[in-house]
Amino acid sequence: MKVNLKGIADSSEFSKNLVFENISYSWKPGSNTLDQCSLSIPGPGLWMLVGANGSGKSTLFHLISGLIVPNNGQFRCFFKTALMLQNPDRQLLLPSCASDLLLSLSPGMNALQRNQYIKCALNQVGLNGMAERPIHTLSGGQKQRLALAGALASQANLLLLDEPTALLDPASQISILEIVRKISRKSNENPVTALWITHRLEELTYCDGAAIMKQGRLGQWFSGDYVIRTMQ
Ligand SMILES: Nc1ncnc2c1ncn2[C@@H]1O[C@H](COP(=O)(O)OP(=O)(O)OP(=O)(O)O)[C@@H](O)[C@H]1O
Ligand SMILES: [Mg+2]
Repeated sequence: MKVNLKGIADSSEFSKNLVFENISYSWKPGSNTLDQCSLSIPGPGLWMLVGANGSGKSTLFHLISGLIVPNNGQFRCFFKTALMLQNPDRQLLLPSCASDLLLSLSPGMNALQRNQYIKCALNQVGLNGMAERPIHTLSGGQKQRLALAGALASQANLLLLDEPTALLDPASQISILEIVRKISRKSNENPVTALWITHRLEELTYCDGAAIMKQGRLGQWFSGDYVIRTMQ
């Protein structure tokens, strides 16, 4: 067990699921977007990342999810990841809730299993009974919850949430925060791990720990309250 200065424990067994050490990445030659960046996730839970525009937070998620590969450093990810973006319209593709969720399911399931997974994912995000609802009739907050249901239906165990509440009103923001906090609770049988990027500092009160990204490098984990005070 490694414990950092602010007391957030790092379980070495758990942190082996993601090796992300001294990673550098350049979108264009001559400037490092990520510069010797390291990340270790202390355990299951809701972990938040903050930092100025352009500091490299979304690029970090692109790297973890395997969309781009590092130029340098050590990277291995044994989590099954799901990326969730600010705008659900960019990731909901099919006409109804159920048909869209089908895209997230593992191949090889029979019809009964598919229906069970879809029902369970919709229940987890409070969209019970909405399997046949056309997506264009959902509110923004419901669409974002459906995108989250897709991540859960895919059986991802690491959610990468890139400003998932940026376009939502306060009520929908809190509903997404509470769902993610609930499914990431360590006391759950199979808690997911969530990395959540935000510019909305009030969200840090929900997290198990938060880290600040500065010029392509991530600092250590602190409590959310400490980071709120640091950023104000
Ligand atoms: N697809 C891309 N092609 C070229 N450059 C990119 C691309 N994506 C990001 N960048 C550049 O990488 C740098 C970091 O961008 P990134 O989106 O990772 O920052 P961020 O911390 O997520 O910012 P924000 O808070 O505004 O979302 C920026 O200079 C950006 O212009
Ligand atoms: Mg970003």
